[in-house]
Amino acid sequence: MNTIAPALLDKIPVAIAVVADTGNIQYRNQAFTEAFGLDAKWLKDAARAVAGERGWLQGFFLAGSDQLTTDVEVNGRIYRADKMMTVTDRTEPTVALAFEDVTAQRQAEQAKSDFTAQIVHDLRGPLSGIQGTLEFVLSQEGTKLDSMYTDLLNEAQRESERMMNLINEILDFSKIQSGSFTVEKEEVRVPALLKRAIRSLQSVASRDEIVLVSAHGRDVPQIVGSVEKLTQAIINLISNSLKFTPKKGLISVGTQIMRDGDATDAIVITVTDSGMGIKAGDINKLFDKYKQTGNKSFRGGGGTGLGLYIVKQIVEAHGGEVTVASVEGIGTSMVLKLPVRRAA
Ligand SMILES: Nc1ncnc2c1ncn2[C@@H]1O[C@H](COP(=O)(O)OP(=O)(O)O)[C@@H](O)[C@H]1O
Ligand SMILES: [Mg+2]
Repeated sequence: MNTIAPALLDKIPVAIAVVADTGNIQYRNQAFTEAFGLDAKWLKDAARAVAGERGWLQGFFLAGSDQLTTDVEVNGRIYRADKMMTVTDRTEPTVALAFEDVTAQRQAEQAKSDFTAQIVHDLRGPLSGIQGTLEFVLSQEGTKLDSMYTDLLNEAQRESERMMNLINEILDFSKIQSGSFTVEKEEVRVPALLKRAIRSLQSVASRDEIVLVSAHGRDVPQIVGSVEKLTQAIINLISNSLKFTPKKGLISVGTQIMRDGDATDAIVITVTDSGMGIKAGDINKLFDKYKQTGNKSFRGGGGTGLGLYIVKQIVEAHGGEVTVASVEGIGTSMVLKLPVRRAA
């Protein structure tokens, strides 16, 4: 049996290798040698990438660790490395990896997502045209519109805002998916950023009879990051609060500074609403893609379920974290903690 098995493995067209955690290649089948030759220094890195920073072999055993495959680029082609099995009862723990050439598949996926991103992006132009027109008509105080028409135009404006939000979320999401999501290194003045985010939603809030206020500590330090992405994250949070807070509600946006001795450690931004709240059981799922709870929005239909996922990606890309505290029927507080990096 022991002599048949390697011979059989050589007949399989899939490249297979057994690697020790030292990077030592203990076995490779014929398909592997044909594809990669005898020199495969990248193999150790591939295995490590699958397991993350926790030590690559341990990573394989982590329950629920879902990243058991990784893409590796070798000689201009892309291979998907899959873990087949691990052997730990030796002096050198080893793992068997199988490699599939997925170059064509990845190229097709890239083309598809570029195309989607382009189309979605192009939808924004005409939509802002529509929004501008509606805004202009609604702001003309001289024209006496029948109140029925005013209501209809307000409704059209509301729906076009929703559509703009959906478009922006899909765009951000596709950027995150394709890996072209990088954070700029601008100086970010948090209070000014919050003011801008609030201003852009103030008219929506007052139309829905919701009070939107903000309060900041003094001397909030600047942080380094992307003004645009952080603004988008705050807008996402306030938009959620607007969706899930009834008339006469309150939304407050605030900043606090966390200090460690004399030095500032982090800026904490909170978006708190007096809305319907979130069930305790739903809270840890909120930041997953496409996740929505049974909560019914007070205005407009459903969203994409991508908003909070995007917020989390943005905040984490800034080295921060996002948490939520919520009581059903009382309200929700979203808390963003952004580290202040000291000048080196
Ligand atoms: N402030 C909030 N109050 C109550 N529920 C919320 C709040 N923010 C988010 N949620 C819940 O979390 C879900 C996910 O939010 P999000 O990812 O922004 O997706 P979407 O807004 O497209 O539904 C929402 O559908 C809602 O059920
Ligand atoms: Mg949302």
